[in-house]
Amino acid sequence: MSDQNITELTITRPDDWHLHLRDGVALQAVVGHTARQFARAIIMPNLRPPVTTTEQALAYRQRIEDALRQHDDLPLFTPLMTLYLTDNTSADEIVRAHESGQVYAVKLYPAGATTNSDAGVTDLLGKCGPALQALERCGMPLLVHGEVTDPEIDVFDREAVFIDRVMRPLRQAYPGLKVVFEHITTKDGAEYVRDAEGPIAATITPQHLLYNRNAIFQGGVRPHWYCLPILKREIHRQALLDAATSGNSRFFLGTDSAPHARGLKEHACGCAGCYSALHAMELYATAFERAGRLDRLEGFASFHGAAFYGLPRNTDTLTLRRESYTIPADVPFGDTSLVPLAAGESLDWRAE
Ligand code: DOR
Ligand code: ZN
Repeated sequence: MSDQNITELTITRPDDWHLHLRDGVALQAVVGHTARQFARAIIMPNLRPPVTTTEQALAYRQRIEDALRQHDDLPLFTPLMTLYLTDNTSADEIVRAHESGQVYAVKLYPAGATTNSDAGVTDLLGKCGPALQALERCGMPLLVHGEVTDPEIDVFDREAVFIDRVMRPLRQAYPGLKVVFEHITTKDGAEYVRDAEGPIAATITPQHLLYNRNAIFQGGVRPHWYCLPILKREIHRQALLDAATSGNSRFFLGTDSAPHARGLKEHACGCAGCYSALHAMELYATAFERAGRLDRLEGFASFHGAAFYGLPRNTDTLTLRRESYTIPADVPFGDTSLVPLAAGESLDWRAE
């Protein structure tokens, strides 16, 4: 059956392997959107201050649970916590995190690479040896924001340069380390992950499957399409779409949904991040349908990530229906509002 004839698609309930939930009123505002579509999500630790200890991760997990309880009628949702790697993260802290049974990964932000990354790593191989060894030993994945921060490097080249300067040496030094190359945005990233040896995978966001960098400049500056790593040329979007729809289990869903209040996006120095949690599966279904590969959506969204993390597949389902859906102009966000990715546009899919 050609994809245009498919009017309803029921898949195993998906997971989001890269999500920003924030804290406080922001957390309250967004957590229900993710929990309506996804059974589990890997929760990013770039709060202010960052989540650097197991104790902080468990306390944050409790705040997420409390926020979930404010909503009625949500399906069961499990937050999978992460730690924020710093130059000082000890091997003991990694072991504690692993033994807690609630922390599933550790996130590497090169210092200064993106939102709330000031406390990130300044010299991965020089400073983080004990933590990396402990991660390799306990089998917990390192989640990598793969961009160099060298101001000499063009912002569009930072991912490709990161592969040579950091990713290859890292994986050579720790060949057993499980690595997720987060939110890949380039052909270089997709090919590296496809061809590399050892335990590696990548997440891909909906915006990098649906848009190229023209979207940021369509008739004027469009801050709601600005995220990091930034959207790239069409050749890269096409390579990411090929990877996501290839059936290769190294590629899986991670929205990188990153809410920022409207005023901080529509600003002289706007924050990086696209808000996609509201309509994530609708966006991914649109991308997969355009590639004629709706049949591969379930693997990407519901199987590959769980397999990489060594977790069971979810047992319930999510249904997507072919139905015209206009993305709202904004949604409430504490005492301000939040503009979803592609606000005002129409999609042909609606999640149940
Ligand atoms: O666009 C982004 N927003 N990229 C990131 O790496 C961080 C995120 C955020 O936390 O806002
Ligand atoms: Zn992120």
